[in-house]
Amino acid sequence: MNILAIETSCDETAAAILRAKRGRLELAANVVSSQINIHKKYGGVVPEVAARHHLENIIPVIDEAIQAAQIKPAAIDFIATTAGPGLVTALLVGIETAKTLSYAWNKPLIPVNHMYAHLAANFFNQSIQFPALALIVSGGHTEIVLLKNHHHYNKIGQTVDDAVGEAYDKAAKLLNLGYPGGPIIARLADKFSGPSPINLPRPMINSRDFNFSFSGLKTALLYTVQKMTKKEIKTRTPEICRAFQDAAVEVLVSKTIKAAKKYQVQSILLAGGVAANKKLRADLKATAEKNNFQFRVPEFKLCTDNGAMIAIAGYYLSRKHHPRKDGWQKISADPNWEL
Ligand code: KG4
Ligand code: ZN
Repeated sequence: MNILAIETSCDETAAAILRAKRGRLELAANVVSSQINIHKKYGGVVPEVAARHHLENIIPVIDEAIQAAQIKPAAIDFIATTAGPGLVTALLVGIETAKTLSYAWNKPLIPVNHMYAHLAANFFNQSIQFPALALIVSGGHTEIVLLKNHHHYNKIGQTVDDAVGEAYDKAAKLLNLGYPGGPIIARLADKFSGPSPINLPRPMINSRDFNFSFSGLKTALLYTVQKMTKKEIKTRTPEICRAFQDAAVEVLVSKTIKAAKKYQVQSILLAGGVAANKKLRADLKATAEKNNFQFRVPEFKLCTDNGAMIAIAGYYLSRKHHPRKDGWQKISADPNWEL
C-alpha cells in the first residue's frame, strides 16, 4: 500500500510517501519546505504570508516527494491530508490540493487531525504497549491523551492558556533571541551547567487535574528580566534560559507521570514539536522508566511538522475506516478540530 500525505497547517509545506507492506512501514519520501526564514523577521508566523508561500511551494514539494519515491500516481492507494487544527488559510492550500489530486487521479482521500498525526509519529515501526498515555507538546497545543489502542483515545488534560511551545517562543522574543524560540532557548540553556540560581514558578504542578498553564511562567520571566540591566540580561542569558526550561520541563514531566500512575497505563508517549527538546526527552524517559513505564518518542525529524506523520496517521485511520473514493467531497478545513 502506498500513501501520499500532505501537510500545510502552519509554516511548513510538507509531503511524504509511505509504503506499508505486511504491517511494516517504509518512508519512501519525506519532503519539508520550511518558511522559518520568512517568518523570522516578523517574530512569528503570519497566516496570510504562510498561505501564499504554501501556494507557491505545494506542487514542487509534492513533485519532489513523488520523484524521490520513484512512484507513479497510479501506484498511490490513497491520499491523506491535514484538515485541522491549524491556520485556516494555510490548511486550505493543502486540503484543496489534496482534493484536486484525489478527483483527478480517482483516489480516496482521508482527512487527518494534525495532533493525532503528531501522536501517530510514535507508531512508526515501534511497538506500543496499551493502554498508553501521550504528552503532545507543540506551538499551538499542550495535551495529555489516554489511548486504549492506536485509534481509540480521549483527551484528559490540556493547557488553559499558552501552549508550551508558544511559551518558549514568547520567552525567546522577550529576550530578543529570535524565532522559533524553542530550539534557541534549549541550546542556550544547555550552556549553563547545574541548576540556575534564578527561580521561576512551576504553574499548576500540584493541581489535581491534568491541565497546564504556561502564561504565568512567561510573565514571571518578564518580571525577572525587568529587574535586570540590558548588560546583565545579555551575560546571564544561558542561566535565564536554563531556569525557564527547567520549570517548563519539570511541570510537563511531573503531571505526565502523575496521570500515567492514575490511569495505570503501560507506556508513555511523547510527541509534537517540543518533543524535539533533548531535556524533555531525557527527563521524561528517565522518570517513566524509573516508574516501570515503557517510553516512546519519535526520531527528531518526525517531531516537528512533517508529511510522514500525516501518512502514518492516514495508514492507521485507513485500518479503522476503509477510505472511500468520494471522500474528498466531504472534506473541509476545521481550524479548531479537537482531538
Ligand atoms: O509541532 P510543531 O512543529 O508545530 C505546531 O504544530 O505547532 O511545533 C513547533 C513548536 C515551536 O513552538 C517551537 O519553538 C517548538 O515546537 N520547538 C521546540 C524545540 N524544537 C521545536 N521547543 C523546545 N525545544 C526544542 N528543541
Ligand atoms: Zn505540529
